[in-house]
Amino acid sequence: MSLDLFLDDKELVARIKDLKKERNAVILAHSYERPEVQDIADYVGDSLELSRLAAKTDADVIVFCSVHFMAETAKILSPQKTVLLPAAEAGCPLADMITPAQLEAEKAKYPKAAVVAYVNCSAEIKSMADICCTSANAVQVVNAMAQDEILFVPDQHLGRWVQTQTDKKIILWAGCCPTHQRMKVSDFVNLKKEHPEAVIVVHPESNEDICNLADAILSTSQMLRYCQASSATKFIIGTEMGMLHRLRTAMPEKTFLQPSKGLICPNMKMTQLEDVYESLKELKHPIEIPELIRMKALKALDGMLAAVPTK
Ligand code: 13P
Repeated sequence: MSLDLFLDDKELVARIKDLKKERNAVILAHSYERPEVQDIADYVGDSLELSRLAAKTDADVIVFCSVHFMAETAKILSPQKTVLLPAAEAGCPLADMITPAQLEAEKAKYPKAAVVAYVNCSAEIKSMADICCTSANAVQVVNAMAQDEILFVPDQHLGRWVQTQTDKKIILWAGCCPTHQRMKVSDFVNLKKEHPEAVIVVHPESNEDICNLADAILSTSQMLRYCQASSATKFIIGTEMGMLHRLRTAMPEKTFLQPSKGLICPNMKMTQLEDVYESLKELKHPIEIPELIRMKALKALDGMLAAVPTK
């Protein structure tokens, strides 16, 4: 560990800002990142917004404070840029729940189905898909497909929720997000008893019984806009706790409650300010993708961005 790492947070933030200018870098952070990392970022967003920003930024370096598949998405969209993942080990268990061989076998079972891949998957899985989607646009993407049958991978809960919003036949893959799985119905019910006026907002990666309790089922940035537009002042938020920082920063006058204590994605929390600093200083850890895979994955991502051109 370098001596630089014993800097206090104020000094660290100052150095990150200097290095950012020197490198002509942009710092992107997902809504689940640590508060201090969100606060240093140029943009905090959901996976769709961050993809769009990565595709159009004129920075030379993208420091992607998130997990591996999101940084990989940025590299697919902006291959000429240096895309850095500050915490090299930050993965996604949901993305790991499907392998190329498994998808190949499933595709063979449903030759007429279009493959829609939630962006929470590897570049290789994206390269095998007809199109990608995020939680913010999954319904529009599915409806935009010419096929009536959709093989939806890898998140079963998002796929099941999409099924409630479309006439197409959705074939589900058995993946799920372990963090969202930790939420319990009883926690929502108890909190709602204590705060009957609170509006329940959950992420579509949540279980069906939890979605059934919700007033709104939204991506992380959609949650932000929904709570801003709502006349309600109290919300129960069913997603990773980093989102609470984002909501409370944007709306200090409103109250945001979490149903379950410690709803933490350990991967999203791996990135610390020190990692952001080291990343900019040493250009760590650059994302590389074999060109053939990248080109095919790009088609699926471009398809998504074209199918749903605005937020
Ligand atoms: P959003 O696209 O809503 O930010 O969600 C991404 C994610 O990984 C949720 O667990």
